[in-house]
Amino acid sequence: MSLYIGIDLGTSSTKLLLMDETGAILNTAGREYPLEFPAPGWSQQAPADWWRAVCESMPELLAGFDANEVKGIGTAGQMHGLVVLDAADEVIRPAILWNDGRTAKQVEYLNETVGKAELSRCTANIAFAGFTAPKILWMRENEPENFARIAKIMLPKDYINYLLTGVHACDYSDASGILLLDVEHKCWSAEMLELCGVNEAQMPALYESFEVIGTVLPEVAAALGLPAGVKVVAGAGDNAAAAVGTGVVGQGGCNISLGTSGTVFVSSRTFGVDPNNALHAFAHADGGWHLMGVVLSAASCNKWLLEEILGTGDHAAEQAAIDPAKLGENHVYFLPYLMGERSPINDTDARGCFIGMTMDTSRADLVQAVLEGVAFAVRDSVEVARSVGIAIDSSRICGGGAKSPLWKTIIANVLNITLECPASEQGPGMGGAMLAMVGCGAYESVQAAADAIVKISSTVSPDPALAAKYEARYQQFKKIYPALKELFPVLQ
Ligand code: XUL
Repeated sequence: MSLYIGIDLGTSSTKLLLMDETGAILNTAGREYPLEFPAPGWSQQAPADWWRAVCESMPELLAGFDANEVKGIGTAGQMHGLVVLDAADEVIRPAILWNDGRTAKQVEYLNETVGKAELSRCTANIAFAGFTAPKILWMRENEPENFARIAKIMLPKDYINYLLTGVHACDYSDASGILLLDVEHKCWSAEMLELCGVNEAQMPALYESFEVIGTVLPEVAAALGLPAGVKVVAGAGDNAAAAVGTGVVGQGGCNISLGTSGTVFVSSRTFGVDPNNALHAFAHADGGWHLMGVVLSAASCNKWLLEEILGTGDHAAEQAAIDPAKLGENHVYFLPYLMGERSPINDTDARGCFIGMTMDTSRADLVQAVLEGVAFAVRDSVEVARSVGIAIDSSRICGGGAKSPLWKTIIANVLNITLECPASEQGPGMGGAMLAMVGCGAYESVQAAADAIVKISSTVSPDPALAAKYEARYQQFKKIYPALKELFPVLQ
């Protein structure tokens, strides 16, 4: 038997998954770590925490299995995080993450002074605060000593791959979110590198996600309990890997991920750009491309309300208190902009809020409003895709939020589409392991791996009466942000 390891390097935890070549998940192990919020809207993390999570989880993952059967590792990583290494490959400062909003000024410079048309011509995308290039500009302006020491710019999963193999590499799906990649031609954009004051030698080498970048270093293999010669593929951004893990490869499929962020991911064999650049136009992990909308705070809103505010870890009990008859009837709305918002409003000043409360508003109404508010925000991205002619009639779904039957019912009805639920909601980790299988030759392509491995275990279809109620609620929800937009910067 051959075994493969998928590493899902997430924002709240790193999860490892052990899979055999038939796609059976044999074991999982993981570790959580903190997020630092050094100022409102800022978000960073210590890369050492990610590596510690990998090192601590690996023996647990392999316990009871023959580690000599492990053939390959594929990592799926939180995207866009700026990891900077000095000439000795030491981390210079904490990684600035995908949901960090400190770069409003640099984003304005890129989108308004350089211009959206020029950015889109060079990279197929415009600037968003979470993207990596604005962070590089921020460092140049605010931390010139740190900036001067940069020998390598990497993304989170590339740092893990570097520690595993000693190789500085990046795949096209994740590199797309740096805003320095010419996404159509899959090479670094000379114009964008110059604009950000960096050169190609500071960037990692580019690979397809399923290509092998190296093997695990002997001393690392010994420390992790792995045999010699385990291959490491370039891996992918977590959303592209999640799409692989749910079988959304090739032409036209859709995957919704409900993790810390919420994403709507539409796969394509050919390169294409949303004419308004509201959706990201990125490379896919299967060798093709995709369009994607991103809700910055999705399952994290639910976790925030329940754990930070209500002080409970029992998500199921809170959701059980919601009366099914109140679905579509909630007069409380929630804007899920706890970290500002990416798609489609691109507003770092936007903030979370509950609106519409009365004396009879209950705790359950607020919990329900959060689930609904995230669903409405996901619908905003689906509407952008529909407006550029992409038909979304059904979607796969994955991520921690997809464990909740109630949330899936709300999403299916708010979007008025059927959700196809894969047997496992662990999209990114599965995708990582599947990419490793392709790199090791177990399958000839990502499509072949997805065809053989991904199984749909259930579907959730909308109910016409409930979908109609949610349609009316969504039309109301859409009015809230425009009414508050001008107020958010004033309130800061
Ligand atoms: C995608 C994005 C998030 C992170 C979450 O553009 O910023 O989905 O990848 O890990």
